[in-house]
Amino acid sequence: MKHILLLTTFFFFSLHYGIAQKVTVYDLQVDDFYSPIGIDSETPIFSWKTASKEYNVNQTHYQVFVATDAIFSKNSLVWNSGKLASSESVYTVYEGKPLSPDTKYYWTVKVWTNLSSRSTQSRIATWSTGLMKLKNWDTKWITVAEDDNYRSNPKSPYFKNEFKINKKVKSANLHITSRGMYEAYINGKRVGDLYLTPGWTSYNNRIQYQTYNITDLLSANNGIGVILGKGWHYGRLMGTKKGEQNYSGNRVSFISQLLITYEDGTKERVIDDSNWNYFYGAILDSEIYNGEHYDANLIEENWSNYGVNNPEYKSAVMVDDYKGILVSTSNEMIKRQEILVAKELITTPSGDKVIDFGQNLTGWVEFKANGKKGDVVKIQHAEILHKEEFYTANLRAAKQLNTYVLNGDSDHLYRPHFTFQGFRFIKIEGMEEIDLNDFKAVALYSDMEQSGTFSSSNPLINQLQSNIEWGQKGNFLDVPTDCPQRNERLGWTGDAQAFFNTAGYLRDVKNFFDKWMVDLEYDQYDNGVVPSVIPDVLENKKPRDGASAGWADAVTIISWNSYLIYGDKEQLKLRYNSMKKWVDYMHSKSIEGSYVGNNHFGDWLFYSVPNDPPGRSAVSNKKMIAQAFYHYSIDLLLKAAKVLENKEDVVHYQNLLNQAHQAFQDEYVTKKGMIASDTQTSYVLALKFNLLNEEYKKIAVERLVANVESYGHLTTGFLGTPYLCEILSANGRADLAIKLLLRDKYPSWLYPVTMGATTIWERWNGIKKNGDLASESMNSYNHYAYGAIGEWMYNNLVGLKVNELYPGYKRFTIQPLFDENFDNISGTYDSNYGNIKVNWSRTNDAILIKISIPPNSQSDVFLNKPSIGKWTFNDKKAEGSVLEKKEDTDKTYFLLGSGDYQLRLKAE
Ligand code: BGC
Repeated sequence: MKHILLLTTFFFFSLHYGIAQKVTVYDLQVDDFYSPIGIDSETPIFSWKTASKEYNVNQTHYQVFVATDAIFSKNSLVWNSGKLASSESVYTVYEGKPLSPDTKYYWTVKVWTNLSSRSTQSRIATWSTGLMKLKNWDTKWITVAEDDNYRSNPKSPYFKNEFKINKKVKSANLHITSRGMYEAYINGKRVGDLYLTPGWTSYNNRIQYQTYNITDLLSANNGIGVILGKGWHYGRLMGTKKGEQNYSGNRVSFISQLLITYEDGTKERVIDDSNWNYFYGAILDSEIYNGEHYDANLIEENWSNYGVNNPEYKSAVMVDDYKGILVSTSNEMIKRQEILVAKELITTPSGDKVIDFGQNLTGWVEFKANGKKGDVVKIQHAEILHKEEFYTANLRAAKQLNTYVLNGDSDHLYRPHFTFQGFRFIKIEGMEEIDLNDFKAVALYSDMEQSGTFSSSNPLINQLQSNIEWGQKGNFLDVPTDCPQRNERLGWTGDAQAFFNTAGYLRDVKNFFDKWMVDLEYDQYDNGVVPSVIPDVLENKKPRDGASAGWADAVTIISWNSYLIYGDKEQLKLRYNSMKKWVDYMHSKSIEGSYVGNNHFGDWLFYSVPNDPPGRSAVSNKKMIAQAFYHYSIDLLLKAAKVLENKEDVVHYQNLLNQAHQAFQDEYVTKKGMIASDTQTSYVLALKFNLLNEEYKKIAVERLVANVESYGHLTTGFLGTPYLCEILSANGRADLAIKLLLRDKYPSWLYPVTMGATTIWERWNGIKKNGDLASESMNSYNHYAYGAIGEWMYNNLVGLKVNELYPGYKRFTIQPLFDENFDNISGTYDSNYGNIKVNWSRTNDAILIKISIPPNSQSDVFLNKPSIGKWTFNDKKAEGSVLEKKEDTDKTYFLLGSGDYQLRLKAE
């Protein structure tokens, strides 16, 4: 005993010995999560960050320790990486002893930097493993009787089971997932803080399960309850044709495993699957588009408690019919986020009682009611008022209606369970008196960490930024959706690729998209075609030829851009096959480098004019667009092949790229450099995707500029918009990009802002100046695609850009425009290595910029000189830490390592 204690103590102290004070190690992550539970990975990856006030701090060595106890006793140590010479602090792969399922692990890292020969140790972080292998699920799926399948019975079944515990519990985990959505309860308490679980994947192929630490919910006698709703699995979705269904099976079901680890070290699975009963309770129907019907009189609050029985219990049925795989959750699940108070009670001209929450959002409304038992309260949701009336025509077939039968208890909190709504306004029926304090709007979205911020001296631009952020929040519900309100809410690939870089600046979307890309690969057809929506509920694996340019290319664009932002080479490797399949498909449909394909959406929602005799509508030829994206996808695949050192592919795809380039030139560029079609999108794509021979580039820029000037505004749709300002500013016309950004008349980014928008609209003219609406059938007020301008704002107004040669912000660029329309701009971005900050402001005769660079990274800083002057440092130490400097007539260049810098440009 003494011996063990000695060893233990020695090891523990050795970890702490010699802390180099000037450095701290923080933000320890496993598989890109903070202290996750339920991770299936057999080789998890570790990342950490280093903070220091000193300049040019770089990690020189690290050493990772993993153990099964918090004191890292020798016996519990499963990995000691040894002291490794490396500057890498991200994506360190576990190489220790095989990990056991349902087990908690402790880890810590020692870091050495160039500041000292002594190491700094991080705090101790943890993670716990999931069930890891399918065979560890020695339980059955629990479902209802055949007659109660979702077609004949829309009600939500409430499943109930009980178990006793007679030993001291050390920890207990519930692993659970479902076909349909679930909410689990133990002893009257809701399990966890996740909603709309288990999220949405390619269900026939894989379903994610969740792991909850339920130790604190347990007592000697326990009741467990599980409620199921139809969810994405069985509920009506846009692609569901009558009589068909989204996924296989016709009964909602769940599978669970409750594992208890006792103080004495033993482990037990406590629930007997043959003992589940079910009954029908308060949820009479629930559907994502249509909402929920809930009768509070049909459920006792304590239904999931031990000993509370329901006279109408039926025996649940055990089945073993799932053909896919169960995998642990690899993305941040949906949680309750902002809670918004009701702003105003409005009585519309036709007498409707409407509450305005002041913000278009995705989630639901929670409320308390003073009504009598049996009163029926209906809450319908809408995004806008039209002619002062509650407007729902743009929801198309989605009802967005929650109906509640009250139980007379004024403390009861009503909320739906297996649905969500996109709304700013609600219409309330069935309540005599409405107290605004009783109503709260709850935003629901995937719980991704905020990574970036942006603010400026222009309030309209700040509102645009807020709209972009809310567009992301409202459409990142486990998958990236087009919109959250009408009968779509699907993972449209084109929208996702257009918005990806903006999304990546604002939130840590790595896990979110890594997970979605796995489903993309599962749903990709054998011929390589990428479906238009992921998960694919539109085509359901029916053989299909053709896929839209700019939509299917999400596979190459997102995979590559994710690599640039996060620098995760392993992920790129995982995506490579899927990227290649799509490119090979396009190649199979091309002749001498010329690709056509079919089913193209084109430059979706470009500027168009009804009854257009002068031909002002900016129609871009779809074949030209397809050729441009074909070239772009080959190019990205080729870059990936180079990074992954796949030499054969490099040669092969370089050839394809050359052919595609020539074909574009031959077919779509005239001898004098006009592109067919002569639109902004054509020139933007040609320049962005590097499709032009050298001599035509200048002409393309001139024609683009002339086009923008002749319209006086943008004319681009989903495909051209993300790159329009980028191409202008990259070609010396930042002034024109700024003009487009600051324009507040239709069509522009700020026009919706001036019309009171709180999210990004699907159409440039969603609401016209005179209040008329652009369209009934396709007019969402929460579609993030045009929010892609965010990327340009961060890259140019803040000036922060990734450097392709050093992905994951290992080395990045800072080059703000210092545009004179702004007095100040500030942006932050929490990179792999820590927080990057750029903040500049203008006074009468000077510009001041503050820059922070985290340890382990560097920045190429280009400071333009909009006036004649000189950039000087505020601080000698900072100046002395500059790694390289070059002075030009119009800009000054610095290579900076980590640290906080302040510089001032003063007129000379
Ligand atoms: C969706 C879009 C999507 C498009 C395909 C629409 O109905 O809302 O955002 O990309 O269809 O053209």
